Amino acid sequence: MAMELADLCRQLRLAHVVDYVSLQQNEQLRSLAEQLLAAELDGRRRAKLGKLVQQAGFPHIKTFEGYVYDHISFPQGSSPEQLRSLEWLERKENLLLMGAVGTGKTHMAIALGVEACRRGKAVQFYRASDLVAVLQEKFVAGTLSRFREKLRKVDLLILDEVGYVPFSQTGSELLFNVIADCYEQQSVIVTSNLEFGQWTSVFGDTKLTSALVDRLVHHAHILSFTGESFRFKQAMERILL
Ligand SMILES: Nc1ncnc2c1ncn2[C@@H]1O[C@H](COP(=O)(O)OP(=O)(O)O)[C@@H](O)[C@H]1O
Ligand SMILES: [Mg+2]
Repeated sequence: MAMELADLCRQLRLAHVVDYVSLQQNEQLRSLAEQLLAAELDGRRRAKLGKLVQQAGFPHIKTFEGYVYDHISFPQGSSPEQLRSLEWLERKENLLLMGAVGTGKTHMAIALGVEACRRGKAVQFYRASDLVAVLQEKFVAGTLSRFREKLRKVDLLILDEVGYVPFSQTGSELLFNVIADCYEQQSVIVTSNLEFGQWTSVFGDTKLTSALVDRLVHHAHILSFTGESFRFKQAMERILL
């Protein structure tokens, strides 16, 4: 739907164009101005989206196109539509995507991250073990607080693959602090192949693990992914062709 000049000017923060065009009383001019400003607005949106997606550090881009939900159980009152509406992000709630490998957790986390970028939100994607490595590096270099400040500015932090690699005690503590920073301030998406009961094997300490899970789970939507690995299915299809 074409936007009115006044709307376009408001969104582009142009204070005087509407008055000028109105004074001219020239429909052609109005239409031309609308086309030009619509093009400018669209260009700015695209540039912003590109920048947000780049800053997010996704390992690759995934969208919901062709994504199937059959094997995912949603908590009561939650649905694919609700998830994609990003209401949970506005409410600073978390998403925990749990299940076996190859069932689409990373794909969903990225697709939601891209959707968030479309809404102008700042997103940061990390494989959990990579974030821990960065935190340790910053800690040693004495620049940890600056880095944590930076992380605090994002609207959505995605921590992929919690569970594959156990963390050292320092690593666990550093990650705990980041998650504690996010609590009720920012949304976190965590993907994991392990149930919470097994998280102690990743974080080492029982107390720290339960404090961490506690913060994540409060105000969270927990989705469980079941079924066969898509990677395996796709590979089989290629073999059977
Ligand atoms: N629900 C889905 N619909 C369509 N393709 C999917 C779905 N889930 C996963 N895939 C594809 O299967 C592969 C493995 O998914 P991935 O998200 O990496 O799994 P996980 O993170 O759970 O190990 C990817 O190529 C992904 O695009
Ligand atoms: Mg994954």
